Amino acid sequence: MVSGFPLEPSGDEMHRLVDEAMRRIVAHVVSLPHQPAANVEGADEFARTLIEPLPETGTPYELLLDSLFNEMVPRSFNAAGPGYLAYIPGGGIFHSAIADLIADSVNRYVGVFAAAPALAQLEANVVRWLCEIVGFGAGSGGVLTSGGSLANFIAIVTARKERLPADFLRGTLYCSDQVHHSFQKAASLAGFPYENVREIPSDETFRMQTNALCEAVARDREEGWIPFLVAGSAGTTNTGAVDDLAEIGRIAKSESLWFHVDGAYGGFFALTSRGHAALRGMEQADSVVLDPHKTLFLPYGTGGLVVRDAQALRRAHSHTADYLPPMQDDEALVDFCEISPELSRDFRGLRVWLPVKLFGIGVFRQLLDEKLDLTIWATGELRKIEGIEIVAEPQLSIVAFRLVRPGADLNSLNRSFLEKVNAKKRVMLTPTTVNGSFVLRICVVSFRTHRERMEMALEDIRDAASQS
Ligand SMILES: Cc1ncc(COP(=O)(O)O)c(C=O)c1O
Repeated sequence: MVSGFPLEPSGDEMHRLVDEAMRRIVAHVVSLPHQPAANVEGADEFARTLIEPLPETGTPYELLLDSLFNEMVPRSFNAAGPGYLAYIPGGGIFHSAIADLIADSVNRYVGVFAAAPALAQLEANVVRWLCEIVGFGAGSGGVLTSGGSLANFIAIVTARKERLPADFLRGTLYCSDQVHHSFQKAASLAGFPYENVREIPSDETFRMQTNALCEAVARDREEGWIPFLVAGSAGTTNTGAVDDLAEIGRIAKSESLWFHVDGAYGGFFALTSRGHAALRGMEQADSVVLDPHKTLFLPYGTGGLVVRDAQALRRAHSHTADYLPPMQDDEALVDFCEISPELSRDFRGLRVWLPVKLFGIGVFRQLLDEKLDLTIWATGELRKIEGIEIVAEPQLSIVAFRLVRPGADLNSLNRSFLEKVNAKKRVMLTPTTVNGSFVLRICVVSFRTHRERMEMALEDIRDAASQS
């Protein structure tokens, strides 16, 4: 029953609303392993039928839920399912969804410390944990963002303000030719013309050629540019390559460059001993992007940026206004609006805090280790298939490969090979282009992907290869 004020449901009504939604959510989540890995045929046309004008009156709740769960949700990539080995998966742990319900229901304000000190502190603890994972010590800090793209943007703006004059257009940035495009996009949004971003060639393992980095910096200085930032990748999206972060850190130090690390995909592997070894040098960075919605398995919408010197974030973002409450003087207490572009925003710390407190980080560490093992296993199995060439050995949990048949047009052969794999709908793989070649990738990140699903993936790849 709806009370006199429809936007203020009674206690019973709140239970009913949640129960109705929960019934459908549970049915959906438990069926994820049996849903097709992708189901988007005709989805564009269907989406067009949904275009509608602003409704003046309401529609019954059950009808809306049914249309969401029966019509809209199924027509998509099953990005939460175990067969999603495409792009960079995450999965979306359910406990974070509960945290979101709580955060949105209590709707406290965490942008300024004074408005909800304990909750702001809880989120600050989450940021501190991220600093700990990266290897940052006292004085470090950071913010949770909507994702890695925004985190890259905040890092570049902060570095720009720290290292360049107000007229910054002679500033140059360095990254490898394998960097995620959000880095160039962030540089552009931060005001840099595209030509100020130097894409340094990568080597045969897709890592930045650090001698080419040194040469580019020296050349630019001679020509009057102001080199100010170098970005290393802690796991590229294309092939999972990890740059030599220790060496890039050393160069950054000797050249007085801001050392940024994009660990949106790979940074959390530092929790494992193999990942920690691969990511050596990340702790030297000035700023690191980490995406909990990737390798901490959270639902989409949670990224993070940690910075060695938290005061750099404050210097870049702090603004005052007469209508705001006083900000904290004590450096131990954080006003997030002072160190990020956002003022009002969701209480996103809870979606990280709740699962990490519930399970402890050990569970995440074990799952990440499992992903490393699965990728090594899959690579070994791929190698056994006649005609398969491993294009990029796994450095973390991505392997890139292609089918080679003598005399064939390899790009079109591999396009149809990929279609055959995906046609079974037990797994979804996505391609990329490396050195001009169309290649397939397997990216094992979802907390729902275990050995059984990887065996299905290999079965489907074997079948597709035998038919190609
Ligand atoms: C290495 C890397 N950096 C940055 C991003 C951008 O992150 P987001 O999609 O969270 O904005 C991605 C996304 O896949 C990524 O893989």
